[in-house]
Amino acid sequence: MRQMSLSKKSIHWLIGFALVCLCWSATFPVSAVTATNSPDHITLTWMDAPQTTQTIRWRTDSNTATGWLRLSQATLRQTAEYRQIEAQTRTWQTNTGVVNLHTVNLTGLKPDSVYSYQVGSGEHWSRPQQFRTAPDGPAPFKFLIMGDSQSLDYGVWRTTLHKAAADHPDAAFFVAMGDLVDVGQDYDEWEAWFAAAAGVLETLPVMPIVGNHECYTPERRFSRPEYFNAQFALPRNGPPELAGQVYSFDYGDVHLVMLDSQAGEQARLIPDLLEQQKQWLSVDLAATDKRWKLVFMHRPIYGNKPDGILENLRQAFEPLFEQYQVDAVFTAHDHVYARSGKNGVWHVATGRTGTKTYKTVEAKPWNRVFINPVERPMYMSVTLSGNMLIVGVFGQTGELLDSWELHKTK
Ligand SMILES: [Fe+2]
Repeated sequence: MRQMSLSKKSIHWLIGFALVCLCWSATFPVSAVTATNSPDHITLTWMDAPQTTQTIRWRTDSNTATGWLRLSQATLRQTAEYRQIEAQTRTWQTNTGVVNLHTVNLTGLKPDSVYSYQVGSGEHWSRPQQFRTAPDGPAPFKFLIMGDSQSLDYGVWRTTLHKAAADHPDAAFFVAMGDLVDVGQDYDEWEAWFAAAAGVLETLPVMPIVGNHECYTPERRFSRPEYFNAQFALPRNGPPELAGQVYSFDYGDVHLVMLDSQAGEQARLIPDLLEQQKQWLSVDLAATDKRWKLVFMHRPIYGNKPDGILENLRQAFEPLFEQYQVDAVFTAHDHVYARSGKNGVWHVATGRTGTKTYKTVEAKPWNRVFINPVERPMYMSVTLSGNMLIVGVFGQTGELLDSWELHKTK
């Protein structure tokens, strides 16, 4: 019988090989995409006017080459009459594998109407779902705001979002305030985010903004928010280089403006990120005739971390907010709830919907209200009705933490 023996050289080689494997697995994820031939990640957004359009995107594995959407104004059953529309399909290489993204931008819809839809192809179809188009004109409506959802456990985000949607079935859409995930250029994170949000995203449109974590790679380098841009179909009316990443849209009598405050993370790729937005914002705000103007950006001007006021953002945007009488600027990033008023503009930090909290945040002299929600995730509702804007701030289990109103006299 031959004796098995390892020379010193072999042992060194084996240790070296093991170390290479260890580094490889730490650098490159071992998981693979979970996409199948059945549609998932079904998401409602708007690329155009919410009264007459609806954008629907979903994903499948890369072998599912086409996608279709069935649309009906009746409840969608096999016998119901429906229109079938072919999706635009794009193959997308992620860091964990290849998927297909299918998009249908429905146009010519009737305002204030309920539609049923189903997406899929061949034998593989989603369950029928419904959406409602926006009313024409300045009818009252409500929307929700979901602060940073980045998490170690996206089950917390799931609970917060589902509770918010269940308690506010009249909400027209929700805004996701950036830092949706912890590592924006890691598809594993997005799979967890979408899996947690499934059951809501099919019926309640999301209008998200970019946060700093959308710009991080698994190697902790800076990037453009490519995964964010690939997955969310959004209005492309922003600065050309930032189309789909910076945008505005109208709902009822409200003009909503979504900015990108990640000037540091994208400095190498878009050195004039703030300047581009400043130029665009001055035109965008001057052009709107809506009664209410609301701005959403991830980083705050008046923050609650030790660095407090972010001067680059203040200089770029604050004069325009004041000149064009923006009513409120909603922010995130510090994972606190705070509101402050300055020269007629409310600055509102929107809390957190995921697991991450900070101990280094503190109330600042400019805050009227400050809550560090260490104990509980939270979300907000905003109701617009005529000359009133009514805000509710809720803990994850639905308890009211703060409420306030703005009244317009003209
Ligand atoms: Fe952040």
